[in-house]
Amino acid sequence: MAQVTLRDVKKVYDGKVVAVRDVNLTIGDGEFLVLVGPSGCGKSTTLRMIAGLEAITEGTISIGDRVVNDVHPKDRDIAMVFQNYALYPHMSVEKNMAFGLQLRRLPREEIKRRVTETAGLLGIGELLNRRPKQLSGGQRQRVALGRAIVRDASVFLFDEPLSNLDAKLRVTTRTEIKKLHKRLRTTTVYVTHDQEEAMTLGDRIVVMSAGRGVGVIEQVDTPLNVYRYPKNRFVGAFLGRTPMNFFDGRLVEAEGEVWFVAGPEDAPSIRLAMLPKHTEALRGRVGAEVTLGLRPSSLSEHPMGKETAAHSTIRSQVQVVEPLGKNIDVSCELLDGSPMLARIDARHDFPTSGEVKFYVDMEHVHLFEPGEFGASLLHPEGAPQNETATLASDA
Ligand SMILES: Nc1ncnc2c1ncn2[C@@H]1O[C@H](COP(=O)(O)OP(=O)(O)OP(=O)(O)O)[C@@H](O)[C@H]1O
Ligand SMILES: [Mg+2]
Repeated sequence: MAQVTLRDVKKVYDGKVVAVRDVNLTIGDGEFLVLVGPSGCGKSTTLRMIAGLEAITEGTISIGDRVVNDVHPKDRDIAMVFQNYALYPHMSVEKNMAFGLQLRRLPREEIKRRVTETAGLLGIGELLNRRPKQLSGGQRQRVALGRAIVRDASVFLFDEPLSNLDAKLRVTTRTEIKKLHKRLRTTTVYVTHDQEEAMTLGDRIVVMSAGRGVGVIEQVDTPLNVYRYPKNRFVGAFLGRTPMNFFDGRLVEAEGEVWFVAGPEDAPSIRLAMLPKHTEALRGRVGAEVTLGLRPSSLSEHPMGKETAAHSTIRSQVQVVEPLGKNIDVSCELLDGSPMLARIDARHDFPTSGEVKFYVDMEHVHLFEPGEFGASLLHPEGAPQNETATLASDA
């Protein structure tokens, strides 16, 4: 196993297309790191540079203690799975898995042992004699995984390995990959554009964007830290199953508090008192244009904390109510006509029309500078130093 390090890595294609720049990452020994971001932000490029399939224009990449910039892919001790994994159609599953090992001239018994063990691990032990066309999509995907894993490489690289599978199979295979990593603990870099896949798989996730014309890293942290403390509006908008609500407005000082206000002075559509602990940080911004970021789950028809109706509620007209089981999604409209989505607890009945007052969980609101990449005002550096929100089971 090995640590992978990228230092000031830049990739320019054909001397003109800058695909990524300023890529600095340390992937810990045994870590599962996910690169996530919209199409064209340079995820595959970054992965392919680690693999050695693309030359590095600037910077260095190390695997273990060795700088691999000029090391041939086959000598980097990596195994890679692509979206379009091509299995050899005329070979059995067993042969497909064994092929790479045969090329490496491993002893026959060793090959047999590794293939059997890996097939067992992936639950395809019964399928070893079948040809790829006699398998389901999910089974084929597992053979492709097996073919990579059987090599016993020190780093696994995955580029959207599940995107050819249907939604249900994606979820189950994703769980398998997570289980597999728990067992093998092989350093893994995994590329996806699916934020949910990233959140569920990664020990840490790297959110990338190409919004300023070049692929760059926006934020790196544990999934929950990135979700809770997005450094900028782009990251806030990218992560989360339901999109964050954004409202343009301004900061106002009144009654000894700093308020976020949207809409006209005499009839604001939103007027929320920021928490006292944030007052100091925000005072210098009073009068400035800012954007409020509000996750649908930060809205409730009941108070969630110490909120008081006068200081932390938003009035809205209910438009559409969608029961989803555990939650209800409420699409509504504010006084000024701007849309807002609330995801509330389904244990209580909810009116399907009329005016409703939502309480806002002020602990979890976000304020950004204006613009798509506006920096967070409350946590511009992401999660506080002492905060490492990981799932209890991973701690
Ligand atoms: N071989 C190439 N020659 C020139 N430009 C390229 C080449 N490969 C990728 N690019 C460009 O580099 C940028 C990053 O591409 P890359 O494939 O790394 O993105 P990605 O994040 O993997 O996107 P997707 O989610 O669509 O796979 C894009 O602007 C792309 O057009
Ligand atoms: Mg790609």
